[in-house]
Amino acid sequence: MIRKCLFPAAGYGTRFLPATKAMPKEMLPILTKPLIQYGIEEALQAGMQNVAIVTGRGKRAIEDHFDTNYELEHLIDGTSKEAYLQEIRYLIEHCTFSYTRQIEMRGLGHAILTGEVLIGDEPFGVILADDLCSSDPDGVMRQMVKIYEKYRCSIVAIERVAPEETHKYGVIAGDEIEEGVFRVTDMIEKPSPEEAPSNLAIIGRYILTPDIFTILEKTPAGSGGEIQITDALLQQAKEGNVIAYEFKGDRYDCGSIDGFVAATNAFYQLQKSGE
Ligand code: UTP
Repeated sequence: MIRKCLFPAAGYGTRFLPATKAMPKEMLPILTKPLIQYGIEEALQAGMQNVAIVTGRGKRAIEDHFDTNYELEHLIDGTSKEAYLQEIRYLIEHCTFSYTRQIEMRGLGHAILTGEVLIGDEPFGVILADDLCSSDPDGVMRQMVKIYEKYRCSIVAIERVAPEETHKYGVIAGDEIEEGVFRVTDMIEKPSPEEAPSNLAIIGRYILTPDIFTILEKTPAGSGGEIQITDALLQQAKEGNVIAYEFKGDRYDCGSIDGFVAATNAFYQLQKSGE
């Protein structure tokens, strides 16, 4: 059973400036819910009740969102508007939240290492909230837990992307051991189409075994001076300990304007059709 899920949420979100100047990117809403709330719902559905969030400067709104606002609760108590708070109240009741701060933004690998204090010595999920996933009935993290239960090693979620898109992702090479499941043999961070070993791109969902922390401690800064999670995962992959899983469902890169608009439209249509 994996109980903990880590949310690295310390990045600057520069692609969404000026919206992200004073507001965390993870609080951008798709319809009425912030991105990170969707992520936490996905984690909880996968059985991960312990939510660990790596924050940074200017991210206080995240902590406030997962807390009670007495004044507001009092104001709408007993009115029809209470229904709007039903989902967030459910999360607050069923999850525990812990936070730590990344002091210097030294990349995703460094953010995950910063989260070690909240995770300890057990396997854990990682969700990048700006990659918004939708799938029914099982969310992507729940699908990945099933894969973890079978292979008992680190799992990365992958998606097929167009060759001209590989430079935005970590890209894997691997042997397909069952349909949509690959044992990873190599991975390259942000390769050009010529360098890319495949078109199988890693998206913002991981299950990691805790030895990743020791590896991250020794991982030098890679491209852009950042500590890359891909470099650390490659160490595990060399031992045959990384599985890539082609998830079922849709993913929207809500850290980009195109993905954000696409997600908004798709979720709006979904909501309309359910009314
Ligand atoms: P991104 O690559 O999307 O970076 O990070 P970013 O800073 O959030 O956004 P842009 O590119 O400037 O627009 C991927 C994930 O890793 C987290 C981010 O919060 C995001 O969830 N991250 C990244 C950290 O927590 N710390 C870092 O040092 C870097």
